[in-house]
Amino acid sequence: MDMGKVNEKIREFEEIILKKEKKPYEGELFTGVDLGTASIVLCVVDEKGSLVSGAFERCGVVRDGIVVDFVGACEIVRRLKKQVEEILGVSLDKASGAIPPGVTEGSEKIVKNVLEGAGFTVTAIVDEPTAAAEVLKVTEGAVVDIGGGTTGISILKKGEVTSTYDEATGGHHMNLVIAGSYGVSYEAAEEMKRTKEKEEDIFRVVLPVIDKMAHIVKNFITGQDVEKVYLVGGGSALKGFERHFESSLGTPTVKPYNPMLVTPMGIALCALERRP
Ligand SMILES: Nc1ncnc2c1ncn2[C@@H]1O[C@H](COP(=O)(O)OP(=O)(O)OP(=O)(O)O)[C@@H](O)[C@H]1O
Ligand SMILES: [Mg+2]
Repeated sequence: MDMGKVNEKIREFEEIILKKEKKPYEGELFTGVDLGTASIVLCVVDEKGSLVSGAFERCGVVRDGIVVDFVGACEIVRRLKKQVEEILGVSLDKASGAIPPGVTEGSEKIVKNVLEGAGFTVTAIVDEPTAAAEVLKVTEGAVVDIGGGTTGISILKKGEVTSTYDEATGGHHMNLVIAGSYGVSYEAAEEMKRTKEKEEDIFRVVLPVIDKMAHIVKNFITGQDVEKVYLVGGGSALKGFERHFESSLGTPTVKPYNPMLVTPMGIALCALERRP
């Protein structure tokens, strides 16, 4: 894994989303949709796997990996689809989705239904850690996804996910602690967490939540021969998160630039790889 190259790709995707850009592309387009607790991200790559376009919206339609507001989720995906179609000037008909590790078959069906409800034909449903590993180019170690709702751990051996665990502690729980500590609303807490100027104070306040996440991970990976931990998911975005995690775990831990965008990019790459 070359973290420099991975980070370059993520920066490129971030810029594409922020500037609502399209990049020149070759051949067919492949779309990946990441339905999360806190955000829904759509990513489009071309047949060479180059980034083409994308879009993102914050939401609250999924909880702990389960879609709780079906109509709302369809509406957001439809909106993102339309936005990217307008940027590209072509229609996107096919898409792939993803499910967190260890969820029931029903969840796979719901993700498929949401994408279909938004007007897509679904070509594949992949699992989130496999999608993330595709971007990170890792085949061994633990992919730890700190999402809005949960901390998910997937152990990879020879490129295959061999075991997974998911527990409810994520960015949402950080917000609850910030809201309580500063006496502000949940929404204000979410904004504070993303404000750079307050980063150090916020980090101290949410440290018990980060410790809990590290504890969840440590319990699961102990004895499983994990040499490296790869952080993904927006919940790990706080500065210094990886250093604290590493010292709590005692296992080398790396975090790419903007970890929130890793899985969505991976879903689009998996869509390309598993083209029908
Ligand atoms: N810059 C940032 N600093 C701190 N936290 C951030 C930042 N950006 C995003 N987050 C947090 O990341 C979380 C969302 O991450 P992500 O989009 O990976 O989750 P999700 O996929 O929606 O959730 P889940 O995987 O649990 O279903 C939110 O709690 C959000 O507050
Ligand atoms: Mg997620």
